[in-house]
Amino acid sequence: MSAAKLVLFLTAITCSVIAMPERKVSGQNFAQVERAMHPNVQKAGALNVNPDEFGTSYWKNQAQETILNKKDMTFNKNVAKNVIMFLGDGMSVATIKSARVLAGQLNGEDGEGNRLAMEYFPYTGFSKTYCADAQVPDSACTATAYLRGIKANYATIGVNGQVARGDCAASLLEENRVDSIATWSQAAGKRTGIVTTTTVTHASPAGNYAYTSERHWESDDVTFGNDCDDIAYQLIYGKTGQSFNVALGGGRSNFLPTGYTDEEGVVGNRLDERNLVEEWLASKSSANAAYVWNRTSLLELDEEVDYLFGLFEDEHMKYYLDDVNHEEPTLEEMTEAAIKVLSKSENGYFLFVEGGRIDQAHHSNLPRKALMEAVEFSKAIQKAKDLTNEEETLIVVTSDHAHSLTMSGSADRGFDILGIGIAAEDEINYPILNYINGPGYRAEEDGHRYNFSQNDLSDKDLQYPSLVPLSSATHSGEDVGIFASGPWSHLFVGFNEQNVIPHIMAFASCVGEGYTACDE
Ligand SMILES: *[C@@H]1O[C@H](CO)[C@@H](O)[C@H](O)[C@H]1NC(C)=O
Ligand SMILES: *[C@@H]1O[C@H](CO)[C@@H](O)[C@H](O)[C@H]1NC(C)=O
Ligand SMILES: [Zn+2]
Repeated sequence: MSAAKLVLFLTAITCSVIAMPERKVSGQNFAQVERAMHPNVQKAGALNVNPDEFGTSYWKNQAQETILNKKDMTFNKNVAKNVIMFLGDGMSVATIKSARVLAGQLNGEDGEGNRLAMEYFPYTGFSKTYCADAQVPDSACTATAYLRGIKANYATIGVNGQVARGDCAASLLEENRVDSIATWSQAAGKRTGIVTTTTVTHASPAGNYAYTSERHWESDDVTFGNDCDDIAYQLIYGKTGQSFNVALGGGRSNFLPTGYTDEEGVVGNRLDERNLVEEWLASKSSANAAYVWNRTSLLELDEEVDYLFGLFEDEHMKYYLDDVNHEEPTLEEMTEAAIKVLSKSENGYFLFVEGGRIDQAHHSNLPRKALMEAVEFSKAIQKAKDLTNEEETLIVVTSDHAHSLTMSGSADRGFDILGIGIAAEDEINYPILNYINGPGYRAEEDGHRYNFSQNDLSDKDLQYPSLVPLSSATHSGEDVGIFASGPWSHLFVGFNEQNVIPHIMAFASCVGEGYTACDE
């Protein structure tokens, strides 16, 4: 299409958009509102949209191509030697769409048509995320579902619904405890590992190895002297934690004694005055074990290492956007290091990788950070895909729960995903991304809704508008996606209760107590 024709064509589209029946909206002509909403249509060429998209054949060809690619799809019924589970904490469908658009726009490419790594996976399904006692769940009860195969109570990990939140005694009863797919994989002689951008003792990674009635008992300074082992202790001495080949993330303070200051100036939290990092090294002294606390050491890791423990921050690892000098390893770098250690196993491995701070940025109503964490998460998935073979490795990408972010407003194609400019009836524009609740709430000014346009939208710490004031945004209860590739990935199609996920992974990799692919 010539440039002149394109202009004519786009003008026609613009007109068809504006030619709406006139409708009065609080004193304003609806057509005017529509026009204000579509300031970019004339510039569609500048939006990195392929001009062919405004015709017919582009879409028909694209659809035909999709069918030709899919029609001979076969089921991969191999035994999964390896299983990698990627968990995007709080990675709702709204987050996936927004992150995909941001990733495209940052590359100067089409955002809406862009795809994140897991969008190339052949099979997808839904995960229903409620817990035994919760309509809208947290990361602890959901980890118990997607790693142990049962739904349980809010804030509890590795124990069934008989254990109420904070009930230490009930959590100690063996009959209330349930093992994780990491435990099952170890029993089958596989290597196992966990990687996260949060503390390694946070709810999602702890879902692999801890049994606790309270997710916040990460170190013994918060267990209040009860009889229950804190989560950090369980990582070093618990039956599953002690056998991990890999544990990478943040949370060093939880492993160091109070009064102790390490190389990086990190002060310990532990009241038992134990140095669990040293104890871990001592327990692995007969093996090729390495403890690392910085990116350089991780990247220069000896090929011989069979046990790898990396704690890169006292608390959570830095947000990707805050680590301006790239001092900490990215999730992609940690994933690669983990796969190197685990893939030396003849019997295969189970690896859990969490993009844990998508959720935390959403809690703070910080979409720029949340979306960049999701983009980084996607890069880690791509790395794992590149380093493995789908004939023998099942990769499952999902989220524990949705979040408070909404993408609402009739924005044009190519609209800056973090931008503002959508017209409202009170004549104060609003952004396409907003939160239902959280600290981004602003009170009215002079009897008008807060004018968000006055902010610097490039500020990574700008809190986007929230409808309801809360110091921390809540999760939301919608279903989340499951994306799967490799052996038996087709079993994830449809609407799944979240607790079915580890049963399918166990089936595919022939671990656990249930019926497996090896019984076929
Ligand atoms: C990383 O850790 C190693 C081992 O403790 C240390 O020798 C090195 O100086 C550290 N590098 C940086 C950049 O902090
Ligand atoms: C909102 O703020 C922007 C930027 O400061 C300004 O241009 C606009 O006029 C304001 N809107 C209203 C309704 O005050
Ligand atoms: Zn959360």
